[in-house]
Amino acid sequence: MDNERYLTFALGKGRLAKKTMETFEKIGITCEEMKDSKTRKLIFVNEDLKIKIFLAKGPDVPTYVEYGAADIGIVGEDTILEEGRNIYEVLDLGYGKCRMCVCGPKESKELLEHQQLIRVATKYPRIAKNYFYDKKHQTVEIIKLNGSIELAPIVGLSEVIVDIVETGSTLKENGLEVLEEVCPLSARMVVNQVSMKMDYERITKLIADLKGALAINE
Ligand code: PRP
Repeated sequence: MDNERYLTFALGKGRLAKKTMETFEKIGITCEEMKDSKTRKLIFVNEDLKIKIFLAKGPDVPTYVEYGAADIGIVGEDTILEEGRNIYEVLDLGYGKCRMCVCGPKESKELLEHQQLIRVATKYPRIAKNYFYDKKHQTVEIIKLNGSIELAPIVGLSEVIVDIVETGSTLKENGLEVLEEVCPLSARMVVNQVSMKMDYERITKLIADLKGALAINE
């Protein structure tokens, strides 16, 4: 045990990290320091378990994992699809469920049906491009934004948006609706390709424990 190296986890900040830590607790992976909501610490260590856990911006998680700065990442599938990194996706955790959708005012529905050259605002240009160009064969202008995407059709920046819909309340409160569904999404566990080989036993046990705790039958 003494020579065992640390297994490092990168968790996407926010709701997903909270749910992930709750799940980790069920399988005996705990980190007391992380429970202090006021802490500004970025990395947490459990010496007994030989693990390190850090919180990062969601879109950066696949980057840390690809470069081996983290062995394991827990992040939304939206981020994995958008980043297109060289990593192993090993488990659908089943939580963090939401949908990637094309949304807008209902008048924009017609523009989608008639293959018009429209403007699409999104935080996910790669997903939007794949959807419109490869799946729908519709030429569109994609405008990259960094947040509050629902503003774009309201202020006339774009006709539609491609964004995550969870409860649908942001759309509803802003007079927008789902026009088309791109794909369902959930939280995923990703692993660095070298770590998977070096720590095969620890990582496969972790996957099995998580499946048990989350009642995943695959
Ligand atoms: C996400 C997403 C939507 C909203 C959807 O935004 O971009 O705006 O949540 O959730 P709902 O369907 O439950 O209303 P987030 O809170 O991540 O902030 P952002 O505006 O910075 O993207």
